[in-house]
Amino acid sequence: MKLRHIVTAEQFLDRKFLDKLFVLARKMEKTDMRGYTNALRGKILATVFYEPSTRTRFSFESAMMKLGGQVLTTESAGQFSSAVKGETLEDSIRIIEGYADAIVLRHPQTGAARIASDIASVPVINAGDGSGEHPTQALLDLYTIHKEKGSLDNLHISLVGDLLYGRTIHSLLKFFPLYKNLTVSCVSPKKLKLPDEHLQYLKNNNVGVEMQQNMKPVLARSDVLYMTRVQKERFSSLKEYESVKGTYVLDQPMLTSFKKDGIVMHPLPRVNEIAAIVDQDPRALYFKQAKNGLYIRAALLHWVFKGK
Ligand code: NCD
Repeated sequence: MKLRHIVTAEQFLDRKFLDKLFVLARKMEKTDMRGYTNALRGKILATVFYEPSTRTRFSFESAMMKLGGQVLTTESAGQFSSAVKGETLEDSIRIIEGYADAIVLRHPQTGAARIASDIASVPVINAGDGSGEHPTQALLDLYTIHKEKGSLDNLHISLVGDLLYGRTIHSLLKFFPLYKNLTVSCVSPKKLKLPDEHLQYLKNNNVGVEMQQNMKPVLARSDVLYMTRVQKERFSSLKEYESVKGTYVLDQPMLTSFKKDGIVMHPLPRVNEIAAIVDQDPRALYFKQAKNGLYIRAALLHWVFKGK
């Protein structure tokens, strides 16, 4: 049987699949998963994180438990697993697959999830591979936008911050060509601009895209303002990080020029990109967005194990 790995957002570029996934997530959300409490009974999910996480790991684990399954976890695999002793990722996967029915993997190396899925005999779910991708985050982002805006057709989406290293952005933009008349502003300092391969992908798929260094001009026309953290851990020197951190801060004065029915999103954690006062604005969606992760990941686990 073909294993249902989740490696890249590109494997989900199918509106029918997405509709079904969102309907299931919505149903789970509305019923707080009643009716699914035995769905994954007897299954074990290993969550193997070589990088820090709060939302992704906890929401996967909570989802698995709510579905009646169980969880094996290592929250800091780089520190506490045999990686410290020099074990390769491949060897670790070969061992863990003997103990678990699926593996959620976060790893600092771009392509790590692909490598793991190539050798694993159980499904591997990419929970972030370096600055590569974070497909389940993109799916929960998409679910959030669908819930709030009905669809992404005719929307203007502004991606703000670290577009070079931000893996959530790299996954999210893969979905844009699926929608009609969707336009994008990429707002970043020069040093953190969207890698060419992603820009080309958007252009080749006829997504209207503009590059910006300033956030202010996009505020009034953005339906979705997607803020991101500068990915400190990807920089080779602190000095380089310091030179770009804090470029964009969404605060109260900025909010006054933001579209009245727009939404502010952020994969979180935020450092200082969004002032705490913004949390009180009804357009601030990021905490709801994080909660949506539970239902999308539950729906994804259901698909991984049950195929529907
Ligand atoms: C993101 C990540 O790990 O890429 N966090 C998350 O999963 N919600 C974003 C980030 O760390 O900045």
